[in-house]
Amino acid sequence: MQVLFVHCHPEPTSFNAALTSIGVEVFEERGDRVEISDLYAESFDPVEKPDHYIRRSDTTVFSPLAEQRHAYRENTLPADVRREIARLERADLVVFQFPIWWHSAPAMLKGWMDRVFVSGGLYSSTMRYDTGYFRGRRALCSATTGAPEAAFEPGGRAGEIDKILWSTQYSLYYMGFDILPPFVSYGVQGHGFSYASDDGFARLMEETKSAWRSRLVGIDADRPLRFPGWEDWDEVGRLRPKAETSGRS
Ligand SMILES: Cc1cc2nc3c(=O)[nH]c(=O)nc-3n(C[C@H](O)[C@H](O)[C@H](O)COP(=O)(O)O)c2cc1C
Repeated sequence: MQVLFVHCHPEPTSFNAALTSIGVEVFEERGDRVEISDLYAESFDPVEKPDHYIRRSDTTVFSPLAEQRHAYRENTLPADVRREIARLERADLVVFQFPIWWHSAPAMLKGWMDRVFVSGGLYSSTMRYDTGYFRGRRALCSATTGAPEAAFEPGGRAGEIDKILWSTQYSLYYMGFDILPPFVSYGVQGHGFSYASDDGFARLMEETKSAWRSRLVGIDADRPLRFPGWEDWDEVGRLRPKAETSGRS
């Protein structure tokens, strides 16, 4: 199997970096091939803007969707976007490693999606969700939080984790991926707020790393979350009465 880590953290000694290293180790031990998109280390530019398009379809008004479509068709997509697409195309499993920042994925990862999931090339009105470009491939979000696990229970202070991860996971589903249940490392809070004693914190981090390792060792048995698909929606996109529930909750 070919595995791609999309690693989104600016600090090489962070807990996020430790989780990516463990992941790489586990898959290499299994004999899988591993690639890493290290977004900060590679200085990925997450800002979708006119400068990325050297031959515009319209130089008077910048329409990101129109320019993406045009660049895909003309084979003039920016080199970094082409590199990311090639990495995704090689991967059977894509692991997204990121911290929760402001109740969501960091802007870097969101911007990576804005630019890499190219309109008219990697998705269209008929090529999305369960007919998406990456169907048959799996994606797994591994997120870290500062707040402790209890604070993510329904109505809790930190917000519900399914809602926090929803836009990232649903966008990946939009692109056709099967979404494996997320792995969340709670309470990764070394500075500022402290929710545990130093000893307790160190123990929790070790337990979390070991849970991550076990999760990846058993990844082949994971079943994807269930999201509605084309057959579940009517012509305006409304859920038909009998469709099964989504992976949102
Ligand atoms: C800009 C920013 C926003 C954050 N927002 C949240 C948040 O909404 N919820 C939360 O639980 N932690 C939040 N945190 C804490 C991070 O999730 C936490 O520091 C990170 O998961 C720890 O992993 P690391 O040591 O690898 O950075 C935030 C941190 C930063 C820097």
